[in-house]
Amino acid sequence: MLCIPVREFLFWKKKQLSKGGDQQSFALLLDCIGGISKSELIFLSLKPEENLYLKKDLEFLESLWDDHLLKSYPIQYICGITFWRDLTLKVTSKVLIPRPETELIIEIVFKIFGKKSQELLFAELGTGSGAISIALALAYPHWNGVATDIDEDALEIARKNYINFSKQSNLQFYCGHWWAPLESFRGKLDLAISNPPYIPKDTYKKLPKEVKNFEPKIALLGGDDGLNHIREIIQKAPLFLKEKGWLILENHFDQGEQVKQLLFRNKFTSIEIVKDLSGIGRFTIGRYK
Ligand SMILES: C[S@@+](CC[C@H](N)C(=O)[O-])C[C@H]1O[C@@H](n2cnc3c(N)ncnc32)[C@H](O)[C@@H]1O
Repeated sequence: MLCIPVREFLFWKKKQLSKGGDQQSFALLLDCIGGISKSELIFLSLKPEENLYLKKDLEFLESLWDDHLLKSYPIQYICGITFWRDLTLKVTSKVLIPRPETELIIEIVFKIFGKKSQELLFAELGTGSGAISIALALAYPHWNGVATDIDEDALEIARKNYINFSKQSNLQFYCGHWWAPLESFRGKLDLAISNPPYIPKDTYKKLPKEVKNFEPKIALLGGDDGLNHIREIIQKAPLFLKEKGWLILENHFDQGEQVKQLLFRNKFTSIEIVKDLSGIGRFTIGRYK
């Protein structure tokens, strides 16, 4: 631990923020790497005469902050963690940083099944850091879940995140292409969820640097119109869902109507486009027959 005067620290902090970036990212860096929690940070200005204890020196913290600002390196990858709902998840550049809008998927599940639903089996296709599946496995300890991903490195992170939060064993992880690792669950799923790669090719080329240069392409790109993976997931879903089983998909802001049509053509009912908090039709849900 390094001891420095609060006054000196506050002066340094002001200088760092004047270079750019946002308060939240800076607070994450100070919390994860510097060892100063958000609540500690709030009260520092009230006691400028005191000393402060840091895990790393200011020079080191500044070099990380500069990396973030100059190279657009996501602060979550620098810190190795991100906050999602009430979870603190390990993330590396092998997994997509779970987005706040995706948190709504858990609310959709609560709305469909209630918070005290009976035992059931769910699958998440393309789990990445494991955020969605872990949140569900924790919220419903009597449910059983299977989370898949094509990328074994991503699954390793998801497994670690799950072990970090739960002593239970109601979530299993499988590697493979969409439904392929779930052969033994044919006709048995009550619920399937996916936030698949859905960015159209031309949009991908124009993504901000912090996304395009650092987050895994395999987690983002959905082919020419962005719907390649969604199409495949919907077409095969009837083989794996129970009758009346639910499918919840996240899609790009303008894909709702097309996803709705795909669900309709594959004999889904109760189809609905669900808006996110910005009023965007971000999710499309349906029930198999
Ligand atoms: C948009 S990310 C979603 C990650 C996580 N579920 C979330 O919401 O933050 C899509 C995920 O799908 C995985 N993926 C891509 N292609 C896949 C495929 N063919 N089969 C299974 N998973 C795939 C990626 O590795 C990535 O983790």
